[in-house]
Amino acid sequence: MIKRISLTLRIWRQESHCSEGKFEDYFMKDLSTNLSLLEALDKLNHQLIVKGQRPVNFDHDCREGICGSCGFLVNGQAHGPQNATTCCQLYLRKLQDESTLTLEPWRTKTFPIIQDLVVDRSSLDRLIVSGGFCSVDTGKVPDANEFKVSQQQAFSAFQTATCIGCGACIASCRNSSASLFTAAKIAHLGQLPQGQLSRLKRAQAMNKQMFIEGFGSCSNNLDCEASCPKEISANWISWMNNEVRQYKKDFS
Ligand code: FES
Repeated sequence: MIKRISLTLRIWRQESHCSEGKFEDYFMKDLSTNLSLLEALDKLNHQLIVKGQRPVNFDHDCREGICGSCGFLVNGQAHGPQNATTCCQLYLRKLQDESTLTLEPWRTKTFPIIQDLVVDRSSLDRLIVSGGFCSVDTGKVPDANEFKVSQQQAFSAFQTATCIGCGACIASCRNSSASLFTAAKIAHLGQLPQGQLSRLKRAQAMNKQMFIEGFGSCSNNLDCEASCPKEISANWISWMNNEVRQYKKDFS
């Protein structure tokens, strides 16, 4: 049997980066618990458009927990109350009937608000760009077995490759540190033979860019690990710090 619930959505409404924002309450009744939170927002937007009002702006793409587009605070928690789950995969059956959900955008100066729940995460793109390319070999396509990768190596690299770049780790960190995001991106390629050529330089360049962008330092509070929808371990931050130390030893 499909269950139905009622929710009050308290949503941060802000016209633009320069305007003032405020919370507005929207009462939604008779919602199927098979809806995801984003689908509930779709329903709300439909109602707002019918009434001639501006719909709530929120980011989304895959709605399968893999693209990292969605992401905002639900009752103060990045991606909401369910562990290892993105906003788009949060279903109403996991929520209490007649509860109030406060939805607000990531709150960090490195992600300026664009409108409502949408923030500008281009600082993460610039971080990736600062790492450069991993390979400069422009020869023919290499044989599949040219680089031997053990199963353990592949598994470990894959764990860090699961980072979807949603920004939850940064938004949850009291220092707005991008250490977990950057560590995951460095460790993903740095563990594989193909990444060895530029491994240490990449680690150093991306670390430098973190501070240029205004991200804070890591103080080991581990809120990043707790909020990561892909459960990436904060141990990778130590791994990254070792890489940067190694760079300084080898190149200075
Ligand atoms: S919309 Fe792609 S991860 Fe949520």
